[in-house]
Amino acid sequence: MTAQRACALSELVQDEARRVEIDGVAMAVVLDGNGDVHAIGDTCTHGDISLAEGFVDGDTLECWAHGSAFSLRTGKPLNLPAYEPVPVFAVTIDGDDVLIDPTVKLEAN
Ligand code: FES
Repeated sequence: MTAQRACALSELVQDEARRVEIDGVAMAVVLDGNGDVHAIGDTCTHGDISLAEGFVDGDTLECWAHGSAFSLRTGKPLNLPAYEPVPVFAVTIDGDDVLIDPTVKLEAN
């Protein structure tokens, strides 16, 4: 599968998460303060909560329900109660298009 358009880069608000769905895969897309765009799995691994409803802080996205913050780079939770990572997806920018392939997950490191 190839990368598909998730949204327009110009639609993203810095330090806010936006929920997108590609082929049934829900993702939280974030434009961070450095201008980098990230895409991680949208569902918190602690509960059925949309991470896109949470809070961006630097390169983390915090779940509003119980406060676990997930790295936008590795998908790993940085604090409890969540302890399982969310997937991280490769993002490509093409002009004003944010392209994401939902089948390509980056390795956590
Ligand atoms: S549901 Fe996300 S930290 Fe509990």
